[in-house]
Amino acid sequence: MTHDPAAPDNATSAIWGGRFSAGPAEAMERINPSIDFDRALFAQDIAGSRAHCSMLVAQGILSDADGAAIRDGLDRVEQEIRDGRFPFSRALEDIHMNVEARLRELIGEPAGRLHTARSRNDQVATDLRLWVRERIDALDAELRALQKALIDQAETHAGTVMPGCTHLQTAQPVTLGHHLLAYTEMFGRDRGRLADCRRRLNESPLGAAALAGTAFPIDRARTARDLGFDGPMRNSLDAVSDRDFAVEFLAACALAGTHLSRLGEELVLWATPQFGFVTLSDAFATGSSIMPQKKNPDAAELVRAKAGRLVGALSNLLVVLKGLPLAYGKDMQEDKEPVFDAAETLGLCLSATTGMVADMTPDPEAMRRAAAVGFTTATDLADWLVRVPGLPFREAHHVTGRLVRLAEERGVALADLPLDAMQAVDGRITADVHDVLTVEASVASRTSTGGTAPANVRAEVAEARRRFLDDAGES
Ligand code: ARG
Repeated sequence: MTHDPAAPDNATSAIWGGRFSAGPAEAMERINPSIDFDRALFAQDIAGSRAHCSMLVAQGILSDADGAAIRDGLDRVEQEIRDGRFPFSRALEDIHMNVEARLRELIGEPAGRLHTARSRNDQVATDLRLWVRERIDALDAELRALQKALIDQAETHAGTVMPGCTHLQTAQPVTLGHHLLAYTEMFGRDRGRLADCRRRLNESPLGAAALAGTAFPIDRARTARDLGFDGPMRNSLDAVSDRDFAVEFLAACALAGTHLSRLGEELVLWATPQFGFVTLSDAFATGSSIMPQKKNPDAAELVRAKAGRLVGALSNLLVVLKGLPLAYGKDMQEDKEPVFDAAETLGLCLSATTGMVADMTPDPEAMRRAAAVGFTTATDLADWLVRVPGLPFREAHHVTGRLVRLAEERGVALADLPLDAMQAVDGRITADVHDVLTVEASVASRTSTGGTAPANVRAEVAEARRRFLDDAGES
């Protein structure tokens, strides 16, 4: 067995042992291997080997018999890994050498021919692209599910009035549906960024070999096609050293995580007794070990926090790549953990957020009450003074300010100021001013494109279903 790193026949590597007379130091054995994490690439690695093998046979570089033996052996290796009985070895460093070494044990000599016209450098670049491509498709589906949860709630709450804030100070009334559709737009852009990344990454590095290409008459277009790539990467040096796709992926994940963090923060705020805007379902909350009355929004808090990991993964990889000379450097082995962690973290945050949004119970009464606090229809009053008696906006702003002060002194809402008191401030005010002073009237009037009016929100819900869910209301 070559799988035990402590075994004497493993003192020098079976793969490149020809040049070496001494084995690795103990710290080297710990710093060098990537198998503990890059085993996640096994399916992509084997798919790449299958494509490479078929191409070698088609090009007459490998005999049919060797090709058949290799393909059969790769099937067996894959099955062993899937069944959890594959003997992973740190001494064999990474997934590429683990697979090849096991192949040799299973099928003997032909295994040694698989690596013709190939290097681990183009292999790993290919594997990681395939892996990221798959995760992008999965994350797109998860982002879509979150959008669906948001759109469904937005439809239910197209007319639910809540305070809209700037500076986290109540500013003007908006609708909850409008607020939730704002996030739907953000996640739509996140899907667009992932789709852009997918488009650009979908070129095959395979066949670039170590860095310079190969003298064997390979067919890179064939392996590219086999693996679902649009075509081969055009420059072999770039093919083995480019990790832009991973950076773009992490950037898209970091931004999606940032959006999720903002939503997480709002859920935390809305669920406090002080706000009381929503009740989160028990399924996404925890209790306190000492305070029996508590229900804590842990999932929302964790989503808020995990943006830190996602942003960290992005800066991690950027710093790894900065200043790296062409072509491959072992530094690049450090690309994988941030990519794996970010994909998993984002997927988890998306599942939790989708659940919280779908299960939350908004309290329209509490939101409406809060929306009326703080003279939130003052802008509507000023606009009325411009529209009806025809005051210049600056003067209307001033008159409204005096009316707000009056309401404040009397401890009433603007809508509850008697007409004569208002007329004492400005004689041009008439009874129909009261039409614009309620929060319902305020949101209903905001019908400009992209505005918060319930009618707009209902139309935008239908549009969002068409744009993001590709259905007309059913799903
Ligand atoms: N484990 C390596 C990585 O992840 C694979 C490529 C190794 N290439 C090499 N020339 N040592 O980057």
